[in-house]
Amino acid sequence: MTAAQPFFVTTPIYYVNDMPHLGHAYPTVAADALARFMRLDGRRVKFLTGTDEHGQKVERSAQALGLTPQQFADRVSGAFREMDALLDISNDDYIRTTEARHIRGVQALWRELERRGEIYLGRFAGWYCVRDEAFYDDAELIDGPDGVKLAPTGAEVEWVEEDNYFFRLSAWQDRLLAWYEANPEAVAPRSRRNEVISFVRSGLKDLSISRTGFSWGIPVPGNPAHVIYVWLDALVNYITALGYPEVESGDYATYWPADVHIVGKDILRFHTVYWPAFLMAAGLEPPRRVFAHGWWTVEGQKMSKSLGNGIPPDVLVGRYGVDPARYFLLRELPFGSDGDFSHRAVVGRLNGDLANDFGNLAQRVLVMISRNCGARVPEHGELDRADMALLEAARGLLETVRGHISEQAFHLALEAIWRVVGDANRYVDEQAPWVLSRSDPARMHTVLYTLAETLRHLAILAQPFVPGAAGKLLDQLAVSAEARDFVSLRASPLAPGTPLPKPEGIFPRFVEEAPQ
Ligand code: MSP
Repeated sequence: MTAAQPFFVTTPIYYVNDMPHLGHAYPTVAADALARFMRLDGRRVKFLTGTDEHGQKVERSAQALGLTPQQFADRVSGAFREMDALLDISNDDYIRTTEARHIRGVQALWRELERRGEIYLGRFAGWYCVRDEAFYDDAELIDGPDGVKLAPTGAEVEWVEEDNYFFRLSAWQDRLLAWYEANPEAVAPRSRRNEVISFVRSGLKDLSISRTGFSWGIPVPGNPAHVIYVWLDALVNYITALGYPEVESGDYATYWPADVHIVGKDILRFHTVYWPAFLMAAGLEPPRRVFAHGWWTVEGQKMSKSLGNGIPPDVLVGRYGVDPARYFLLRELPFGSDGDFSHRAVVGRLNGDLANDFGNLAQRVLVMISRNCGARVPEHGELDRADMALLEAARGLLETVRGHISEQAFHLALEAIWRVVGDANRYVDEQAPWVLSRSDPARMHTVLYTLAETLRHLAILAQPFVPGAAGKLLDQLAVSAEARDFVSLRASPLAPGTPLPKPEGIFPRFVEEAPQ
């Protein structure tokens, strides 16, 4: 037997200066769906998430609350873990950049870059944006109100002049371009790839990778007056969580290079320019793929702390339920595009796709089986063309969904699954098993068997996206825990005669509360 092929997927690690909201739930849910899919598909998965806890932004936020940065980070990192629990996230590890394993790994990488002559001490004079934790050139700044200069993201910038260590990024321009060229799948979607390539083609300057003047960070080995630039610190989490600097054995040897880093479009440059350059400069392999998703607005407005419209995970899940929230995030937008989160749109999907289409289908079929087939998986006679057509559509789904998932096209994967939900609903209406119950009970059994078997396929394939509801449906079909992976789709059809539990709804309708 060959060992299962490893699969390593990550989310960005979240800054602890902000409480978790919808915008953080999004990459985490996407990475979770991917991790769950790959596990069910027989891969040996490592799914990593965590928190980014150093830097001036966090130091200032802690100060404002009268806390030490560590106390502050502990509190908010805990809130991100709670978000994971609420959203049914199946991460295998959770890394915090204040952990000893991380600090040790970052310092080891620094020494390796230094040993290879990739770092030098110089003088920095330029603009720094604490909110973005990024350096900007004059030419990148935009004019704000009252003639003040702002970062391209609209955030305030500060003039900084200090001795800094620099990374020889300029020397990596050609090798980065060669890497994009040789790996067309490494940066996705395509429009983002083009954006990155033209940025790198326009020329790269050496990058400042240390700061002085504040202390909340990892000290530069051999010169503790400097702390390591928070982005270098943060990016390295992807390998410190795998045990770096140990690279010959253990998790690094198994899981690196990462199969997919899921990131937002705002942090694309860090992941597709700086990160591969740091890795290559240290003699390590760059990641296989970085996928940049789009941004959500809420009810048409940009999410912001001052507007307080961020939608915390407990509100999201409390209002709609965890599976509907996950479904909406993954179904509503093509992964990669921007879009709007509105109450109306969520309720539309919830009552349409989930309650009406999938939920009703399951409920109708299970109740008919319970009433008319002695609450057992029905026996079936010979299958006719309509039965075969529905079962073929269900059996063909894995390949279609797998193709979409390999490109992180979650919306297309869900669309494909729901197309078969639609086929099954049409089949019920055409076959009218409630009529057959009197005219031709044997045929009714065959129709209900076909539907139950289709539901089994749909539920198994829906698990990565709506794990709770799919699991509940599989319970109701008496599918054992061992028979829920993708191999079982073909290998373990429902066995006629198996007793079934009492049917229960899987996707309740969302009922608007009457105004007080
Ligand atoms: N700490 C860095 C990432 C370091 S990774 C080595 C960071 N953290 S963050 O908390 O500010 O953002 C984390 C992710 O949340 C980003 O990928 C960002 O795109 C995502 N989102 C935050 N708000 C968002 C929306 N409104 N919509 C979609 N995603 C957004 O950046």
